Amino acid sequence: MTGGSPPGGVRRQLPRWHDLKPMLVGPRPTGTLVERRVARAHSVPDLRALAKRRAPRAVFDYVDGGAESELSMARARAALDRVEFSPYVLRDVAAVRPDTTILGRPASLPLVLGPTGLTRAMHHEGEMAVARAAREAGLPYALSTMGTTSIAGLRAAVPAADLWFQLYMWRDRAASRALLEQAAGSGYSTLVLTVDVPVAGGRLRDQRNGFTMPPTLRARTLLDMGLHPSWWVNMLTTGPLAFATMDSSHGSVADTVGRMFDPAVTFDDLAWVRDTWSGPIVIKGVQRVEDAVRAAEVGVDAIVLSNHGGRQLDRTQAPLDLLPRVRERLQGSMEIYLDGGIRSGADIAAAVGLGADACLIGRAYLYGLMAGGEAGVRRVLALLGEEFVRTMQLLGVRDVPELRSGVVHLPAAAPALPADDGRSGVADNGRPTGAGTVP
Ligand SMILES: Cc1cc2nc3c(=O)[nH]c(=O)nc-3n(C[C@H](O)[C@H](O)[C@H](O)COP(=O)(O)O)c2cc1C
Repeated sequence: MTGGSPPGGVRRQLPRWHDLKPMLVGPRPTGTLVERRVARAHSVPDLRALAKRRAPRAVFDYVDGGAESELSMARARAALDRVEFSPYVLRDVAAVRPDTTILGRPASLPLVLGPTGLTRAMHHEGEMAVARAAREAGLPYALSTMGTTSIAGLRAAVPAADLWFQLYMWRDRAASRALLEQAAGSGYSTLVLTVDVPVAGGRLRDQRNGFTMPPTLRARTLLDMGLHPSWWVNMLTTGPLAFATMDSSHGSVADTVGRMFDPAVTFDDLAWVRDTWSGPIVIKGVQRVEDAVRAAEVGVDAIVLSNHGGRQLDRTQAPLDLLPRVRERLQGSMEIYLDGGIRSGADIAAAVGLGADACLIGRAYLYGLMAGGEAGVRRVLALLGEEFVRTMQLLGVRDVPELRSGVVHLPAAAPALPADDGRSGVADNGRPTGAGTVP
């Protein structure tokens, strides 16, 4: 039934199938089931939510958690949230260049997939899935000393990847040297020496969950098998979940760290590292300006300003708050990377704008891995790339160096209100009140 329209009004008609059909059908989904699942995630936090559903609780918490009260972890994120952008307008941003070089090698984004231990616990394909996705995206990936895939095995699986090797200095120097020789022999380009783990951080979530390697079968674990059957089937049918380079006797990660890692390492040991490794060296875990200066004096090629994603010492300063001062002091004498809390392309733009040559990510790609294996990591890297390019365009910058043309600012942290203002110890900005400023 079609009615006549009043003069100047809208003419009505009955709904017609050929108008309705395109709305009901939509574009045909493509890809495998897993690819379709991760394609429905539109941000890294979406993938985190998916990961939480798919991985056993103890595994998710091992990735997601930090040390003690998780203040270091929260502060790294809060500093990124404080960043303000001041975009240029009316610039031609039809084609922008998000690519850069990292230690002289081309990279599609100012981004490195950082080292993370126990990666096969998150998904049975572990490091191989991460390395393949990194290779496809044109980004470097650092294999951890605590990895679950061997140095040579990873290289054989992904021959063309730009692989870095991350070392924790062991008490046994001959064994540390043997690892470096294996990495050099397998064509790993760069050594990352992590210096913020003299002892293991206090990971309360792991302690409460009884997280061990390999997993300990208790009543709770058996219940969890019922909730995450595919994780368990994959874990039990794809070879033992064990450290590839370290003794895997049963115990917590902290037990392993205490047994193997050398807490007596000093700056003097960097000379040993320099003599043993002929390629570029990156020191990861620097948290003071003077330590950054010392690393530069020793002659390393880059540092990572990092509080280990808040997994080691709690109550540390956010790496982002340290970045502008370090950049000013180093005056371009070596590359500076930053990590902790990077969850979007806008975060990468923020860190680069404030002086980082590149960012590292840990949890972001591990959420993707838990959510959907290699397809999940690919999804994370695609999202970060799209977001980074969009942020550049909206900022009116056309290449990575232009991000440092005054478009990114880090206002000082808001001062806390006095504690006795009658507001139950919570400031206007939602932070607890207290003396001084809240970093
Ligand atoms: C599950 C997990 C395992 C990690 N293992 C290592 C490691 O073996 N070696 C290392 O240098 N850093 C390790 N890290 C720290 C990361 O390299 C990186 O500094 C941190 O994850 C950055 O913070 P983000 O996770 O918020 O990106 C690990 C981080 C996570 C989340």
